[in-house]
Amino acid sequence: MNLEFATSSRVIFGRGEFKRVGDLAESLGKRALILVGKTSQQAAGNLERLQQMLRDKEIPSQILPIDCEPTVELIDALAASARAFRPEVIIAMGGGSVMDAGKAIGALLTNEGSALDYLEEVGAGKTIAHRPIPTIAIPTTAGTGSEVTKNAVLRSASKKKFKRSMRSPMLRPEIALVDPMLTVTAPAAVTAASGLDALTQLIESFVSRRSGILTDGLAREGLTLISSALEQAYFHPEDLDARDSVSMAALLSGMTLDNAGLGAVHGLASPIGAMFEAPHGVVCANLLPEITELNLAALEAEGNAKTLAKYTEIARILTGEPDGRHARLVTTLKLQRRTMHIPRLSSFGITKKDIPEILLGCRGGSMNTNPIYLSDDALAGALEEALKEKLPVEEAKA
Ligand SMILES: [Fe+2]
Repeated sequence: MNLEFATSSRVIFGRGEFKRVGDLAESLGKRALILVGKTSQQAAGNLERLQQMLRDKEIPSQILPIDCEPTVELIDALAASARAFRPEVIIAMGGGSVMDAGKAIGALLTNEGSALDYLEEVGAGKTIAHRPIPTIAIPTTAGTGSEVTKNAVLRSASKKKFKRSMRSPMLRPEIALVDPMLTVTAPAAVTAASGLDALTQLIESFVSRRSGILTDGLAREGLTLISSALEQAYFHPEDLDARDSVSMAALLSGMTLDNAGLGAVHGLASPIGAMFEAPHGVVCANLLPEITELNLAALEAEGNAKTLAKYTEIARILTGEPDGRHARLVTTLKLQRRTMHIPRLSSFGITKKDIPEILLGCRGGSMNTNPIYLSDDALAGALEEALKEKLPVEEAKA
């Protein structure tokens, strides 16, 4: 058995652990750059608390807001403005976009050039040679797991549309500080979309070609935790037990995806996210049932008993039924996205006409670790299915 596993140097999890951020920042540097998202700025004075904790430690700080999925252009501009401040530690508090921005800016402050130079496939092939400014990643949504991953996803604001990763083991945040209480104020739609991103990540890394004993164990735990807790957190945002479970599941999904890779849902989500302003979690939630169905059919045709048994296990966990029927798994996933009012892809302007362009950009990366090869025709069929299902109008607007 050969395996390699890596994650952030330090992972701190628990209700109220946010109060340790002053001490943690002090252990890493004397000047702090704070990256903060829209929800964190508005929510329950978290930014004020953070600033106060830094003032108590006499750590000067500069705040940079991130209000959208980060683009190459934005990261270059923010890195330029941060350079004069000479931060020694970065605190990225927000969703995946904010944490990815923190990781990318931390790298650009110690490595020359534009963020574009370091992006996979579309960049100049530069590698991160110098250790980035250490980052404390503090998620305020439970989903991407970016607090422990080695990549930062950036998109392009220019005509040439892409969404690609800057990737290096040095990009992993020095400290992942996960306090489930910070997710309580996330809007319900964000709880649903980011939670379904975590669920997709757990499923895809569990059946991935690169899955192994360590990631399997973590994925099983994550799937068990999220199975009932996500809807509970969606409908009862103040339920801290549910928030604990979903935050832990999201953290585990970051560890598993970082080490085992993902699959066809994330392979397709990459070009869709570059072409349309659709939140990543919403895209994943829309594709997960149809891609699961497609994978199951292809694995059955191939007679891949080992991966089919993993899907049986997923079905058992998510449906709560001991026989773990694959068809029930697909129905459960469809029902879940409907129950949590996930907007359909068509509401972002995505139509059948876009399928060829989506397919052009979906190979490589996550698609390589999908448990089985899926042809363009097969993927096009699944995309058509995912675009077909319509919600009643009043439900979609809720
Ligand atoms: Fe994801």
